[in-house]
Amino acid sequence: MTKAKAKVHLTTYGCQMNVLDSELVQGQLEALGYEFIDSSDDADVVLLNTCSVRELSEHKVWSALGRLASKKEKGTAKKDPVVGVLGCMAEREGEGIIARMPNVDVLCGPSNLDQLPMLVDNAYSTRASQVSLAGHNSRRSRTRDHGADQLENLDLSRTFSPADGTSKAQAYVRITRGCNKFCSFCVVPYTRGPEVHRPPSHIVDEVKRLVGSGVLEVTLLGQTINHYLAEEGGKKTSFADLLWRVHEEVPELQRLRFITSYPRDFSDDALDVMAAAPRICRYLHIPAQSGSNTMLRSMNRGYTVELYESLLERARSRMPDIRLAGDMIVGFPGETDEDHEASLRLMERARYKSCFIFKYSPRPNTVATRRYEDTIPESIKKVRNQELLELQNRISLENHQSTIGTNLSVLVEGESKLRAKPELQNNISIGWLNKRSNEQTRLIGRTQGDEIVVFDGPRSLIGTMTTVRSTGATPLTIQGETIGLQSENHLPIHNSSHL
Ligand code: SAH
Ligand code: F3S
Repeated sequence: MTKAKAKVHLTTYGCQMNVLDSELVQGQLEALGYEFIDSSDDADVVLLNTCSVRELSEHKVWSALGRLASKKEKGTAKKDPVVGVLGCMAEREGEGIIARMPNVDVLCGPSNLDQLPMLVDNAYSTRASQVSLAGHNSRRSRTRDHGADQLENLDLSRTFSPADGTSKAQAYVRITRGCNKFCSFCVVPYTRGPEVHRPPSHIVDEVKRLVGSGVLEVTLLGQTINHYLAEEGGKKTSFADLLWRVHEEVPELQRLRFITSYPRDFSDDALDVMAAAPRICRYLHIPAQSGSNTMLRSMNRGYTVELYESLLERARSRMPDIRLAGDMIVGFPGETDEDHEASLRLMERARYKSCFIFKYSPRPNTVATRRYEDTIPESIKKVRNQELLELQNRISLENHQSTIGTNLSVLVEGESKLRAKPELQNNISIGWLNKRSNEQTRLIGRTQGDEIVVFDGPRSLIGTMTTVRSTGATPLTIQGETIGLQSENHLPIHNSSHL
């Protein structure tokens, strides 16, 4: 088979950074003639872009590899595809993956993805294993700035589809790669390597070109995004400067957001820019991880609960309508009932719009694994996880209920998959929904504060900004009804009564 007809199936696990990496990899391979398909059964190349953050994330990949191998063994596979493991798990496990799963042909770490087309090409024509890893996992290589320039080429290779209405309304743009923080539980510094900051002109240019191709909302990505600091042409650009530059130099961009913020070193300047720039979303994803200073110390987070809360206060005093999201880990080694209660209390005070809650998962070679035993039994982790979830659900429901009766500016993302859930039916039976004209459907979108809004409307609204009146709430969503297209400046419409 010629490469021009080779079919690729790509599955993405994990974070937004991986979603972006997959998009860039797909663009590069498509430019070379590969065709992307939805089913792995008919694929000549199967790629898994993996995540290592928790053991469960890796478990999913092992299972997928096992399924591919067993089809081959049983002779039920339609094809014998080239199998590639990309991303954090490839970097962390290295050739151990091939030792355990000999059906794997390609290994490519997240810092080496610019080389993937070559690796896939070689594997496709020779079937010899192809391995490209940065070696961030070994201590020696930390001093090297592995392939930063080559990797910049991956981002620069992005293909921009024309403004023909088929392009997406939302896009990710990377501003930093890697992480220097070494939180004791986290594998990311070992898989994505040291922090590298992209030149501001590249970022502004990429946003401009995305907007030119029809994108309405850009999310800037970085592990500790507020630490951004780049020097270009002898001029320093801080995170605040970069936000302002993108906002001012791309006036057609309707929404600018960024993730993930680190609780330390978040400058007043950046908050002031957020408050002054109407198209920057008033939204911060700012993980606390724990409400206990003892835990924060052993997690090597480098801040106290007091510092964390003073940041929330600084943000809220400038932007009373800001929405905050968090991450929490339960069951970190040594976490006592008191530490756990401190996390519950912090969440009560933070009143996040949403919070991801994770059970601590020991990761090989991290400081936490080397230094502490995983002392908290799974049964206790489960209970603590459930307590935090229940608290967050109550807070999210209250936050959502407080919007009822107000108008929200919503970027419509697509059709709601939640359609069949009874609590989302709004007293409308499924039968009634199905009988409606093909045009009408249940839609899902987001406010600038990242709240999820579900409402009925024509499919044609997908990829546009619209105004929705909030009429109901669940812990996960706001329900509403559309009240028409928004005015031309598309600025967020908020009824101040709930802010
Ligand atoms: N850059 C982000 C986080 C990246 S990892 C930050 O600044 O925090 C995403 C989330 O996964 C983390 O915020 C943490 O809550 C969770 N996580 C990371 N390692 C974990 C582990 N070993 N066990 C459980 N949760 C973990
Ligand atoms: Fe991980 Fe901490 Fe960096 S959670 S990504 S080491 S900020």
